Order: sequence, then C-alpha cells, then structure tokens
Amino acid sequence: MAASVLDGKVAAAEVRAGVAASVAELRAAGRRVPGLAVVLVGGDPASQVYVAAKVKHTHEVGMHSVERMLPAETSEAQLFDEIARLNADPAVDGILVQLPLPAGLDSQRVLDAIDPRKDVDGFHPVNVGRLSLGLPALEPCTPRGCVILAKRARADLAGLHAVIVGRSNIVGKPLAQLLLREHCTVTVAHSRTRDLPAICRQADILIAAIGKPKFLGAEHVKPGAIVIDVGINRIATEAGTRLVGDVDFDAVKDIAGAITPVPGGVGPMTIACLLDNTLTAWRARRQG
Ligand code: GUN
Repeated sequence: MAASVLDGKVAAAEVRAGVAASVAELRAAGRRVPGLAVVLVGGDPASQVYVAAKVKHTHEVGMHSVERMLPAETSEAQLFDEIARLNADPAVDGILVQLPLPAGLDSQRVLDAIDPRKDVDGFHPVNVGRLSLGLPALEPCTPRGCVILAKRARADLAGLHAVIVGRSNIVGKPLAQLLLREHCTVTVAHSRTRDLPAICRQADILIAAIGKPKFLGAEHVKPGAIVIDVGINRIATEAGTRLVGDVDFDAVKDIAGAITPVPGGVGPMTIACLLDNTLTAWRARRQG
C-alpha cells in the first residue's frame, strides 16, 4: 500500500499560524512583540536563500526582524562585537547566526558567544546540556520539526524503535534526546555502523540525516515504518538541477506507512519552529 505523505508545508503553516495568533494578541494588548535577529556572514548562495526565507516569515508572523549581513572577511572579533550588541538589545529575543560560517571563523566559539536565553537555534552548550538533562531548554529547530511530523503519522510514539542515521550536533544528537523524551527506544547509526540495512529495518521510525542523496532505499525500510527525510541535496539532472532527500522516495513509498517528501517535508518545519522558539524565548525572558 502506498505510504501517506507527511506534508511539511501544511504542518509548518499550522505552527506559524499559532505563532502569528500569539504575536497578534501581544500587539493588540500594546505589548512589545518578539524580535528575531539573523546574522549572515559572507555570500554563500544557499545561506542567502535560507536567510531571505527566515526574514520573510518573521515579518509574516508579525515579529520584529533584525538582519545583519556582514562581509566574508569579517573577523571573529567583529562578529563577537555584533553578537554582544544583539545580546544587549532589549528588542531582540532570538539570535541566529547562519551556518556554515566562512573559513577562519570558529563556529563553536561564535555560537558560545550568544546569550543562551536568545539561542533560538538551541546550539549553545547550556541549551544542549539542559535538553540532555530533560530540563526546559531552547530546542534545535530541525529535530523539533521531525518530531512534529512523526506525531502527525502517529500521535503516541511511546515504545517505538527510532533509528536515526546521522550523528550531527544539529540534527542526529538532539533528535535522539527529543525522541527519548517521547519514550522511543533510540538507535543512532552513523558511517561506521555495521550492517546499516539490518539496523534500519528494525525501525518503526527511520530518520535520515546524513546528507547523501537517495542513500537509504527499499532494503532499509520495514513495512509500515514512518520515514522522516532530513536531507536536502541538489543533484544534476538532464533538465538542470533538482532537490532530493537522503531517502530514495520512489523506492520506499510503497513500503513505508508514512513518509516526508523532499522538498516540502522537514525543510519548511525548521523556520516554523525557529519562530516558535523566538516566542518561547520572549516568554522566558519576560519571566526573568
Ligand atoms: N544552516 C543550515 N541549517 C541551519 C540551522 O538550523 N541553523 C543555523 N544557524 N544555520 C543553519
């Protein structure tokens, strides 16, 4: 039977509508609306597209938007100064430094400089630690989006075996924490995992976050599994280029029970969760 397709555009629009309604209430009550600052260093074309989409959606939900476009030759000291200004700016609740940064800038040191209360990416060690301790934290956006989509396929994930392929700090590791919180049994597989197809075939929920086009195919999927594809890979075709995921959608669609498409699956969820995190940061800062 054909898998049901988990539409990230619809789910993301619902999240954004909830955020927009909360922002409208604040505005109507004469309160300061949440503010999101996005910092882009250099001119990486893919990053420019992401940042433009973030700014557009920030405006659409009625939030205050701050954009800092810095030249590729920006020094670490200059970037720290910019982050310090945003940390101190009372109109800014969330700060996002777009990754990857140009060579010569140390991403972890830059992320460490962001006030953890404004770290809407959830990448600061304080938020990473709080998440792993099960404490309230700002949580990474793409993993949050994966869980929201999985729960649209099945509201209660408790007891399911989730296999995450990929152990990055941005997706694989934080997603393991979020799925543990949903009471899943979690396996994190990676490039050194032995017999990956056999491990993946145990998965009730299979998440692909490896950055390799169509890497997972029919031999990796248990019939009826929920398949969440985080990959966004641009490949060359006869007609130009095309976006594909880490999962071979056509090979898997009649085996899985539910599957996210690429594009239009996890991708749109990331920005929606970023806006929701900005609202969470606004509320947390208000409570001191
Ligand atoms: N580059 C690609 N994805 C992300 C993300 O989620 N956050 C940031 N800051 N940069 C990214």
